[in-house]
Amino acid sequence: MKIAFIGYGNMSKSIISGILNSKLALKKDIYVFEVKNYRPDQLISKKNFLKSGSQCAIKFDLIFLCIKPQDMKNALLLNKHIFRDFSLVISIMAGVKVSSVKSLMLQKIKIVRCMPNILATIKKSININYFSGKFLLKEKKLINRILNSFGTNYEVKKESEINSFTAISGSGPAYVTYLLEALVTANQSLGATKRQSEEIALSLFKDTIAMIDNDFSLKKIQNLQKQITSKGGTTEAALKVFNKKRLSNILKQGMKEGKKRADMLGKIN
Ligand SMILES: NC(=O)c1ccc[n+]([C@@H]2O[C@H](COP(=O)([O-])OP(=O)(O)OC[C@H]3O[C@@H](n4cnc5c(N)ncnc54)[C@H](OP(=O)(O)O)[C@@H]3O)[C@@H](O)[C@H]2O)c1
Repeated sequence: MKIAFIGYGNMSKSIISGILNSKLALKKDIYVFEVKNYRPDQLISKKNFLKSGSQCAIKFDLIFLCIKPQDMKNALLLNKHIFRDFSLVISIMAGVKVSSVKSLMLQKIKIVRCMPNILATIKKSININYFSGKFLLKEKKLINRILNSFGTNYEVKKESEINSFTAISGSGPAYVTYLLEALVTANQSLGATKRQSEEIALSLFKDTIAMIDNDFSLKKIQNLQKQITSKGGTTEAALKVFNKKRLSNILKQGMKEGKKRADMLGKIN
């Protein structure tokens, strides 16, 4: 199976490592079309790293669009020769509508919009997928298998739903690392060493999740929170501040802005 990636940045690298690790495709069958110069790495060989698709006669089974929305027009123009009628295309560009991609294509492509995340590197991406138009069963199976090779698939039936999940899926790992960073630096400011703060914050996240993992629900985490928060105690003191400063509201606002930005990218691209 031959797979092309337009744009070779953070996400392409992450998805390619997921696909290669799952052995669904071989390194020799993965091609990259990227404006930057080639730098040796383990995922792509020099001969499969191309500046544009103009000299490329390969028929790809799947083409990933992994450029930033603002680079889409140039990238599609530069690589228009790699597309054919009914090429299977997966676009991971945040906010960019299927109709925008199609409007730049000469061919009648079949396109899936997917919102993955960087956890693809360890095959744990959360993929929110929207299949636009009609796909043959075997095409849908192939696409789902590839997407599954680097994460878990969630299909949405309306394109507009994708932007609602972009915050928690695409940006989600950044929220978690932001919270971890905040805990580490806060703990350091209370006098702990950097190393200890890092270790403790990490096991705190991992082990709290491990404790609730088998039976996760909003109710379960609310109950757990109650068990930890004794009246007049230290946890209560901290949670009071979080509530007073409306921390959960701040998170909600941030996610809303993320969605707004995705909607905006859809309008300008
Ligand atoms: N990062 C994430 O966690 C994440 C998660 C979900 C979805 N996404 C989406 O995935 C897409 C890629 O994100 P990313 O973080 O991987 O971006 P990135 O690291 O900036 O990678 C994009 C690559 O495309 C290259 N490029 C620019 N113009 C090109 C052209 N005309 N032809 C070929 N390549 C070109 C860029 O080169 P230059 O740097 O020289 O411009 C860069 O190397 C975005 O649309 C984003 O919305 C990202």
